[in-house]
Amino acid sequence: MENGSAFFVPVLIFFFTILSSIVLLLGNNNNKKKKQENKAKLPPGSMGLPYIGETLQLYSQDPNFFFSDRQRRYGEIFKTSILGCPSVMLASPEAARFVLINQAHLFKPTYPKSKEALIGPSALFFHQGDYHMRIRKLVQGSFYPESIRNLVPGIETLIVSALNSWADGGRVINTFSEMKKLSFEVGILAIFGHLEPHYTEELKKNYIVVDRGYNSFPTNLPGTKYRKALKARKRLSEILNNIARERREKKLDEKNLLNCMLNFKDDDKGEILSEDQIADNIIGVLFAAQDTTASAMTWILKYLHDNPKFLEAVKAEQTQIYQSNVDNGKSHLTWNQTRNMPFTYKVISESLRMSSIISFTFREAVTDVEFEGYHIPKGWKVMPLFRNIHHNPDLFADPQKFDPTRFENVPKPNTYMPFGSGVHSCPGNELAKLEMLILVHHLASHFRYELAGSENGIQYGPFPIPLHGLPAQYWKEEWTK
Ligand code: HEM
Repeated sequence: MENGSAFFVPVLIFFFTILSSIVLLLGNNNNKKKKQENKAKLPPGSMGLPYIGETLQLYSQDPNFFFSDRQRRYGEIFKTSILGCPSVMLASPEAARFVLINQAHLFKPTYPKSKEALIGPSALFFHQGDYHMRIRKLVQGSFYPESIRNLVPGIETLIVSALNSWADGGRVINTFSEMKKLSFEVGILAIFGHLEPHYTEELKKNYIVVDRGYNSFPTNLPGTKYRKALKARKRLSEILNNIARERREKKLDEKNLLNCMLNFKDDDKGEILSEDQIADNIIGVLFAAQDTTASAMTWILKYLHDNPKFLEAVKAEQTQIYQSNVDNGKSHLTWNQTRNMPFTYKVISESLRMSSIISFTFREAVTDVEFEGYHIPKGWKVMPLFRNIHHNPDLFADPQKFDPTRFENVPKPNTYMPFGSGVHSCPGNELAKLEMLILVHHLASHFRYELAGSENGIQYGPFPIPLHGLPAQYWKEEWTK
């Protein structure tokens, strides 16, 4: 028996090895087959040249042309390769819902490291999961309507002062640059409440350097904009840490983002936020708030200028509100009045659709994903194209026409996403809309403006803005003087 087993054991091992090799081989073949099937199911599209992909095609023309041209050629889901990253672009509401809402856990946010270093790696938009949810709750809570309603007088003061300065002296001003200054001040107010002017100045001075470096080529060599921006970013952290220390000592009972962050304690572990986490998220919010809102407000002025009949309708609505305040002896807008500007609200909604400031967003597939029969490989970038959806004639009739009355009907679900959608959607959208409503109220009821030059066009920096930042002259209406 012992001799027998001495013979059979090696034979058994031999057969077992052969068998497992066959199984493995078959498995490998199956895997290869599966991979081939998956490969065959990649979305249509072109990956362009080796390494550079279609980067040149995207950056050498209006990016909107690139997206709509590819959509026309390949349909609503297509592949491409940009800056060495294989990507799938998605131009349908269903696809946007899949990536941003239903299967959001299969896709993570993705940003270049050079940008992350300037904003700060702990800023919420670089994260997902528990940390993201905790910070998001804080930020969202600070910008809920209940939290921002008491900001109306402060925002109004900033807007009136800005408009008066634009109208002072009849100069041509760069509307977008001025809107940027304004939205920065509103951001500071919403984050800190009252902030000592010397702190505002220091933040502004350093933030401008960071902003310049953000859109420059990221080389960390002496003299480059990027290197200067990294240094300014460090100084911003120091300033923010000083402000935070002073606020901790004063223990003020104000409801603003900084105080919420300072008072934060994790429910489970009792952890508080570190200085870096606070600084990164404050810079992150300022960054997310400034160019977006400034660009949206500049577009509103452009569209109203080009559509005098809608400007007249807005003027009528806003003058009535102003007159009712005069009749009641009030000189300021109230929160409730900002909730009751139906036509102006439609103008804002239509301006956001037309301009689609955030034309698309980026995610990265954390695993292989199947969508509508297409394979999206792990590690590929995935880009829901908000602009294409907002400009799809099947969803918005005559999409190139500025027509606020289209918002008399609520858009179909997942077709209107100027503030994104799902777990990373914009927590500052109510603040942005409040700022736009107050601006339009004062502009339309007390001022008039004319554009300098008749050139039309779009400029990207990187958000779309009217050409040259919309140079214009502003005047205070005669009756107000
Ligand atoms: C018209 C103005 C604005 C537009 C069009 C806009 C648009 C957006 C969009 C589309 C997203 C989602 C991006 C994505 O899914 O990848 C987003 C995220 C974000 N926005 Fe805004 N935004 C505006 C103003 C603001 C303001 C005023 C604030 C702050 C006060 C703000 C703070 C943020 C933050 C912190 C995020 C990241 C949220 C997260 O990752 O969870 N935004 N915004």
